[in-house]
Amino acid sequence: MSVNIDSVRKDFPILGRSVNGKKLVYLDNAATSQKPKIVIDSITEYYTKYNSNVHRGVHTLSMEATEAYENARFKVAKLINAPEDCIIWTRNATESLNLVASSWGLNNISAEQNIIITNAEHHSNLVTWQQISKKTGCELRYIDISNGFEMSNLKNILDKNTALVSITHISNVLGYVTPISDIVSLIKKMNLDTKILVDAAQSVPHMPLDVNDLGIDFLAFSAHKMMGPTGIGVLYGKKELLLNMEPYMFGGDMIIEVSYEGAKWNELPYKFEAGTPNIAGGISTGVAVDYLLNIGMENIWKHEVDLTNYALEKFSQFKNFTVLGNNLNHPRGGVISFVHKSIHPHDIGTILDKQGIAIRTGHHCAMPLVRSYGTSAAARVSFYIYNTFNEVDLFFEAIKDVEDYFL
Ligand SMILES: Cc1ncc(COP(=O)(O)O)c(C=O)c1O
Repeated sequence: MSVNIDSVRKDFPILGRSVNGKKLVYLDNAATSQKPKIVIDSITEYYTKYNSNVHRGVHTLSMEATEAYENARFKVAKLINAPEDCIIWTRNATESLNLVASSWGLNNISAEQNIIITNAEHHSNLVTWQQISKKTGCELRYIDISNGFEMSNLKNILDKNTALVSITHISNVLGYVTPISDIVSLIKKMNLDTKILVDAAQSVPHMPLDVNDLGIDFLAFSAHKMMGPTGIGVLYGKKELLLNMEPYMFGGDMIIEVSYEGAKWNELPYKFEAGTPNIAGGISTGVAVDYLLNIGMENIWKHEVDLTNYALEKFSQFKNFTVLGNNLNHPRGGVISFVHKSIHPHDIGTILDKQGIAIRTGHHCAMPLVRSYGTSAAARVSFYIYNTFNEVDLFFEAIKDVEDYFL
């Protein structure tokens, strides 16, 4: 089925606005996505019609809120083909990663062991493991994926002491897609007890993903990058692991029984959900999931890959620009970071903004990686289903203007 992008665009009120007198061209989707009206409306609806706390009341409002909130969890579970009680609501991907680090990492990783990550991790999946390494004494090992993910590089450092491979599914700088199922197969083939955590912040919003098929142990993502609201994220974990993990925070719904001597923890997933949750956030994330599934994750992925290939082809015509991660044969998602040989990324971003074009500039929360290209900042375009080929053309016209202005 092909998607009518013009009709999709009509669902997003913000795409109709102008910026600096020009129609908005939003190419900063890796930072956060725009939201369709039904997602925005579902937040208003909750607060105007059934605002109430969840899991606590016997009154109608509380029961309605609980049902909507738990129904959203069910939708998220379906999206990634996970059991409902293995879906934990968090604040964002960062909190999901930190939850695994604190609750599982600190109790299961010892000084003789090692953790493997890549050189392209978002700080949330890098600093977190640096901290676990400091606290446990374990070694933190890096695979260099600057030129793409090479299984042999992983083989060289994976061993019986590897407690965890924690890896980005799609790099938010390089755009490369990591071959997760091949990594899982390698771990199995080597008969290791290594766990695998996938940072899916840039993949779940854009492609079909099945945690059961992949056979991974943990998966982390944020709702705000998948047309949902800010302030809510998801952690999936395999049941046997979650059951044996200690809670991350204490209080509220994560408790089943308390005495002055101690407390007993609630069942999954509530054991990891302390305090009043982001109820409107959960409910509207469920609406976002419905919206994505209605378009179809395959369709979203195909459109974004087409846009990316189109943009990469255009980039090749600009000799002063370098794309970071320029292995064009590597599978990749809709993220392209680039630098100009003499124009600073912030200047590029500022001039594009004058044309109504929103792109990202900076270190993209991957400081060591960006620095490895001899720069402290890069510019980045990132696509979603509502972006058009015409917008890519407008971006390149503006890029030409930038060069005309500076050179
Ligand atoms: C690959 C990756 N991981 C983790 C994160 C952190 O997401 P959040 O800020 O929503 O926690 C991001 C955000 O840009 C990301 O791109």
